[in-house]
Amino acid sequence: MMRNRGRPVAALVSSLALVWSFLALPAAAQAAPPPPTLAATPPMGFNNWNAFGCDVNERLIKETADVLVSSGLKDAGYRYVNIDDCWSLRERGPDGRLVPDPAKFPGGIEGVADYVHDKGLKLGIYGDAGTKTCAGYPGSLGHEELDARTWADWGVDYLKYDNCNNQSDGSQEDYIRRYTAMRQALDKTGRVIVYSICEWGTSQPWTWAKGIGHLWRTTGDISDNWASLRSIIRQNAPLAPYAGPGHWNDPDMMEIGNGGMTATEYRTHMSMWAMMAAPLIIGTDLRTASAETLSILGNRALIAIDQDRLGVQGAVVSDENGLMVLDKPLANGDRAIALYNSTDTLATVSVATAGTGLRPAGAYRLTDVWSGAETQVKSTISAGVPAHGTVVYRVRPLRDPAHVAPAVAVGAELGTVVPGPTGGGTLTTTVTNRGVGTIRDLSVAAHVPEGWTAAPLSSAERARLATDTTLRTTWRLNVPAGTPAGHYPVDITASYRWGPRHRPATTSSQIIATVVTAPEDGRRHLSTISPVTSANATGPVEADQSNGGALENDGNLITIAGHVYQRGLGTTTGSELRYYLGGRCSRLVTDVGLDDEAQGGPATFTVYADDTAAATSGPVAAGEAPKPLTADLTGAAWLRLVAESPTSGTHTDWAKPVLTCGDVPDDSPILPQSQTLFSFESGTEGFTIANPGDGGTVTQSPSFHTEGANGLAVSTPVAGNWFGRTLAAPVDLSGRTMLKFDLKAGDVGTVGEIAVQVGESFTWCQGGLWTWTNPHSSRTVTERFDQISCPVGVTLDRSDIRAVWVFLNTGGEVLIDDIRAE
Ligand code: GAL
Repeated sequence: MMRNRGRPVAALVSSLALVWSFLALPAAAQAAPPPPTLAATPPMGFNNWNAFGCDVNERLIKETADVLVSSGLKDAGYRYVNIDDCWSLRERGPDGRLVPDPAKFPGGIEGVADYVHDKGLKLGIYGDAGTKTCAGYPGSLGHEELDARTWADWGVDYLKYDNCNNQSDGSQEDYIRRYTAMRQALDKTGRVIVYSICEWGTSQPWTWAKGIGHLWRTTGDISDNWASLRSIIRQNAPLAPYAGPGHWNDPDMMEIGNGGMTATEYRTHMSMWAMMAAPLIIGTDLRTASAETLSILGNRALIAIDQDRLGVQGAVVSDENGLMVLDKPLANGDRAIALYNSTDTLATVSVATAGTGLRPAGAYRLTDVWSGAETQVKSTISAGVPAHGTVVYRVRPLRDPAHVAPAVAVGAELGTVVPGPTGGGTLTTTVTNRGVGTIRDLSVAAHVPEGWTAAPLSSAERARLATDTTLRTTWRLNVPAGTPAGHYPVDITASYRWGPRHRPATTSSQIIATVVTAPEDGRRHLSTISPVTSANATGPVEADQSNGGALENDGNLITIAGHVYQRGLGTTTGSELRYYLGGRCSRLVTDVGLDDEAQGGPATFTVYADDTAAATSGPVAAGEAPKPLTADLTGAAWLRLVAESPTSGTHTDWAKPVLTCGDVPDDSPILPQSQTLFSFESGTEGFTIANPGDGGTVTQSPSFHTEGANGLAVSTPVAGNWFGRTLAAPVDLSGRTMLKFDLKAGDVGTVGEIAVQVGESFTWCQGGLWTWTNPHSSRTVTERFDQISCPVGVTLDRSDIRAVWVFLNTGGEVLIDDIRAE
């Protein structure tokens, strides 16, 4: 039965092929029909790097292949399962070939390829156009042919080719040479292999790589945070003219599902990748992915836009004030239009249809790719788009708009909100009818958090709202006194009727209200007060440390011309910090200067009271002594700290800034108050070693100190020891919440811990907080009392502290100072 059915089908296929070649001949007498383009649409698949880094193995790749099939993502188009760096041994084999690490890939790459192919999927691998990969495994520079042949022999279908250790002179010619060498080597194998060029956009590959690679990275590595996503979109979007079937811009693999962004941001990620015809390479652990992650990655309407066979990357048709509109033509004549809001608040994003590639028509039908909702517009596509959000419509001309709901855009603006009867805030809402036909019985409502009120100061209703007209309403928001500073959602809903049958409909948008509160009375370290907004060139502004690098909490103690501070703000130019004062503060006193950890500058520090420069440093050079500034803030609603430099990213410190608010004496204590236990000004202050047999010494030393002129140098045994002392009399630290000390590591990193002995029994209570530091780096080690644990049955009685110890190890000299309670 089976055999009988099989044969006629095969015969039919071959006779059709015959007819085709016969018919094709006269039309294209000389030229053979062009071979089908590889990567005719942007490649789709998975790569382990973003979620696993070097932690790659056979099991992960096989299980991912399983999930691609079982989750339906394979059916949605995801085909390539790609292995990134770290899959091989550190040395080539005796025959010169790359060797899969047998611990990670016991069945070899060939085994994984077979497994993946059996599932109808394809396998990708990673190599490097240098002497070593980024993680230090063998690179393919000078081994192109052998490596390409090895991969082809294994059944590899996709190569990502990186750029570390490239021995390059940096010229574009060299990039072209190195990446072409692998292109030619791949061609020689005769195997069909997608070639993904990964040189991070360094040599502008979009200008030369068409015809060499099927895709090329346009930027540095993505990371799982909003700043990275926003910056990559900004770099990749203008490159639209360079993309097309078989040659794509690659803004890097996706981070969707990895946890560092909100669902709104991940939807923007998927939306903009589809609009930019980007390769869709999943970078999350699919085996544990949430339903939400799978639904974002599996959005068929967006995949259809990304994979559209016309193969055109969406063009930027407008880009102003952080609002961007992209327009992507599609094979069936539709266009995909994206309204992208990269700002931090709700915004109405609009584009006239005449400003897009849509052909002139009386009306257009919009299909929202996330909700599926269908609406119509006359001549402007517009929506209220949440902060960091993207709305994507599939758009086509519409002949009879009467039966499709009109598109109504709901927008809002809201400044900061101050709690209490004299505070409040002003909300402005706009409702705009973009559809053909009047909407009726419009009413607008603002849904505020419980206890708040929103009262319209102008009408929030309109009997009829014609096409392209707006109802604008101003609202007075009142927020109860005592509401904590923070972010609160306010939903705005427009309800109305449309069409001949007066059908009811609603459209909503959400705006986030920022509640600010003035600091309490007293003199306070500014680093303990949260700014309302904080902008910085490199990573986040750091509290009580210098800026360091791009990560949070990666600075050193603030150090200006050798002067080390326990308190302050580490920024990089151009930075701006805004604090709400509510007219309740009088003065800011601070030192400023360039941090010793990095050169740059000169930089200028300015303290603004509202819009008035209340104190300014003038240009400060690297290595210059700290400059004191005093700013009069009387009556100001806002304090702003601005550091500027011709060299962006200069490390600028606001050292020991103290803010005075309310009516307090000039000599009132600076909060939070701290009580010094040991400052080592008079010697080693009786410091001893808990386990003398384990080794170590202590000496007073001027070479590192935070306050005063001296600190303590400790020589530590590699395995560590406790340094400290029994106190002459019990110390009462009730009311204090934490212990701290300042530390500078020696040639190697070190570990700091604090322990106390309590009560008559001298019971040891110690924390589990170990702080690793880099060689020569400096830190304040902090241990909260509520994180210190005592033996079972003992409570940490802060009023009866009998001894204080710090633990230091790794060998060599460690410098410490100012052991204190706060
Ligand atoms: C980078 C590349 C990353 C990843 C990494 C592996 O150069 O951009 O995507 O492949 O190397 O070490």
